[in-house]
Amino acid sequence: MINEAFLNDPYPAYHALRAQGALHWSPEFCGGAWLLTGHADVASVLRDPRFSVRRAGGWANSSGPGALAELREFKRIFSRSLLFVDAPQHTRLRQVMNAGFKPAALQELGPQIQMIVDRLLDQVLTKAADSGSGEFAEFDFMRDFARPLPALVIAGMLGIAAEDRSEFVAWSDDIAAFIGSPTPTLEIARAAQVSLIAMNEYFRQLLPQRRAALGDDLMSQLIRAEATGGIITTKELLAQCCTLLFAGHETTRNLLGNGMLALLQHPEQWQALQGTPSLLPSALKELLRFDSPVQYTGRRLKVDVEMHGQLMKKGDLVIPLIGAANRDPAKFTEPDRLDIARNQGAHLSFGYGPHVCIGATLTYLEAEIAMRSVMQRLPQLQLAGVTQSWGGNAVYRSLNRLSLKFARPSAAEQATPATSAEAQYA
Ligand code: HEM
Repeated sequence: MINEAFLNDPYPAYHALRAQGALHWSPEFCGGAWLLTGHADVASVLRDPRFSVRRAGGWANSSGPGALAELREFKRIFSRSLLFVDAPQHTRLRQVMNAGFKPAALQELGPQIQMIVDRLLDQVLTKAADSGSGEFAEFDFMRDFARPLPALVIAGMLGIAAEDRSEFVAWSDDIAAFIGSPTPTLEIARAAQVSLIAMNEYFRQLLPQRRAALGDDLMSQLIRAEATGGIITTKELLAQCCTLLFAGHETTRNLLGNGMLALLQHPEQWQALQGTPSLLPSALKELLRFDSPVQYTGRRLKVDVEMHGQLMKKGDLVIPLIGAANRDPAKFTEPDRLDIARNQGAHLSFGYGPHVCIGATLTYLEAEIAMRSVMQRLPQLQLAGVTQSWGGNAVYRSLNRLSLKFARPSAAEQATPATSAEAQYA
């Protein structure tokens, strides 16, 4: 199922799978898995406690014989992550983490996000004014905007140095390559383990100085919970920091990239949005539905479960295909049509149930500021010649490159220099 054509456009394959029935056993997928394509089925599995999120060991196994022993450390760190523990541990960790994601705390982040967006766009505009003289200037939206933005925002939230971002982006990409491969090689798995250990170590070394001078950042909040007798252990704290760094970076950039591509491929939708910017919140929901940044997740059965007349056995891996559920014709009329004014209920791009994405509100805030600023500051934005290249990750649907062009600014429209407070985020 996973080949180049699928990675470029998975939706025909999902429809073909759906046409054959609601539930499929694939012997190849992650070493054997049940695949689900329906919106109602995916939502129901994601909220059902019989389907466990404890699957870090299963991944390690899927890289071949002997991998589990070799990938012990990967399993050990990630098996403490919020993403991979069930209740009651999950409920306890989620309560601690929720504190950093309250709407009021996030609204305070707004000006900081706007500042980062402004600096990134200043750089794009300055480069355009300095280079060439044609009517249009070209840039890579992924490299110059969508990739650095979420990494800088999550670094700011965790209170870590923006200049370390190239390291943590590289670690994060190694981990994503492993999680996103339905048939990972041992080499991919080893690279993920090395990077996860490096990330964990990075946060471990920060701990003493952060404990000595607690701030308002998310890491300080976790340290406060650690100090409040047994709410969260040090190892758990480190695992949550790694999870946030990884989850915050690996996903939002793909909403920006996939979303911008979809809009520019549908010029009438792009024009409608420019004409009525108040459509932005509904447009973001539709972009998440139309081309989900996370295409699937996984669960392991705690008990035998019968579904659609088939018996799924205890221990089996189940793959809720979020990307397929978002194009389910039983839920969305004309699901392959992009309609930024669509109002047809929930997409499942942030998951569902107890593990629903903790960063969803932050993502909407960040994407709204980003898209609004791009619309305002890059006039006549459009796809450039050789435009996009999709990455090879089946879970994190991601563009390597997205070449865009816009009307070259005059010297008067150039950026103002960054202040020292701003410079740390730029
Ligand atoms: C477009 C952006 C994003 C998408 C599409 C996305 C998608 C998801 C999905 C599908 C899940 C559920 C996984 C499952 O049930 O197995 C999830 C969980 C999670 N996400 Fe996101 N996410 C995004 C942004 C973020 C951001 C910005 C952060 C943090 C800053 C974040 C942190 C998390 C965490 C910590 C979890 C685990 C929650 C739990 O297990 O209780 N995500 N996300």
